[in-house]
Amino acid sequence: MNAVQGDLVDPFGRVIRDLRISVTDRCNFRCTYCMPEEGMEWLDRDDVLSFEEIERISGLFVQRFGVEGIRLTGGEPTVRAGIVTLVEKLSHLGVDLAMTTNASRLTALAGDLKAAGLRRLNISLDTLDRTRFAEMTRRDELDRVLAGIDAARDAGFDPVKVNAVIERGVNDDEIVDLARFGRERGVEVRFIEFMPLDASGEWGNEKVVGQDEIVEAISAEFPLEPVAARGAAPADRWRYVDGLGTVGVIPSVTKPFCGDCDRVRLTAEGQFRTCLFATDEFDLRSLLRGGATDDEIADKIISAVSTKWAGHQINQVTFTRPARTMSQIGG
Ligand code: GTP
Ligand code: 5AD
Ligand code: SF4
Repeated sequence: MNAVQGDLVDPFGRVIRDLRISVTDRCNFRCTYCMPEEGMEWLDRDDVLSFEEIERISGLFVQRFGVEGIRLTGGEPTVRAGIVTLVEKLSHLGVDLAMTTNASRLTALAGDLKAAGLRRLNISLDTLDRTRFAEMTRRDELDRVLAGIDAARDAGFDPVKVNAVIERGVNDDEIVDLARFGRERGVEVRFIEFMPLDASGEWGNEKVVGQDEIVEAISAEFPLEPVAARGAAPADRWRYVDGLGTVGVIPSVTKPFCGDCDRVRLTAEGQFRTCLFATDEFDLRSLLRGGATDDEIADKIISAVSTKWAGHQINQVTFTRPARTMSQIGG
């Protein structure tokens, strides 16, 4: 991507095009790889950015800095009251507006989200087994999630992507079943290497199932051929040779894609992060609430982006886990 004046360019020449906004730190699930079962301390309502504040920051990123995609995340974005209204407001920015959700509320919301201008939905689903689903999410809601995936397709979302985090000894025996599910339902399943962002600190290299192993398992059952050019997206993609769709792998641990990263993040309480694994945050909320001008906020964003690092160091001894869980950062 060539930079033009006004673009946000980091010290490694990467141009920022993608903003991920966490709209709430809360969630109605408790996925083991993301949150502890109990004891999460939720943000006070007043600490969470208002829709007006989110709109102002989003407008700045799009109009001043040429950001082309905004993804709403959580926690679980659909538990934020009025989420459809927020989507409607942001849709006027005319960018690729997407959401990552656990799908539990989509039977109620998919149609409204589509009508409000949401363009894409990514849905988390790690297992097709009811008991295991209840263990992994600590909620017995597999059927609601499956119905939510159907509701997303029925509402006209295309593509619908399904994210499956694979953990060794937990759900690695379901890789082929999940791939089959994607082929049958017409959704793109993306297998995600387990990253060290779980709340309980149970992550270990031995729990990571790597991309090569995943692709080998799928292609033994359903032959695959690579789809060229990933660009800045985290997923490597393959198509099924028989024409029944595509499948992806997000290889954050075994084949990091940081060199192509074009994204930055905003947490629910308005902290700006230049990497999923960043240990520093930049407080945009205090500027928003302290009467700062757009220029002042833009300057803070520019100086934050100038600290973006080359990449995470998961595989190195220097790696430091961020102090926050995935649910607080926004995935
Ligand atoms: P698309 O726009 O559809 O490609 O979405 P996405 O894959 O960027 O977003 P999604 O929210 O579906 O995230 C899928 C997985 O990629 C999750 O496990 C995210 O945590 C992970 N992910 C997203 N952004 C980054 C990133 O910057 N670095 C790393 N290592 N992982 C990321
Ligand atoms: N490693 C990899 N992916 C994760 N997600 C949540 N926690 C982790 C983790 N520790 C995924 C969710 C969701 C997306 C936002 O991030 O499954 O699809
Ligand atoms: Fe909730 Fe998503 Fe975290 Fe699961 S991964 S607990 S659905 S925020």
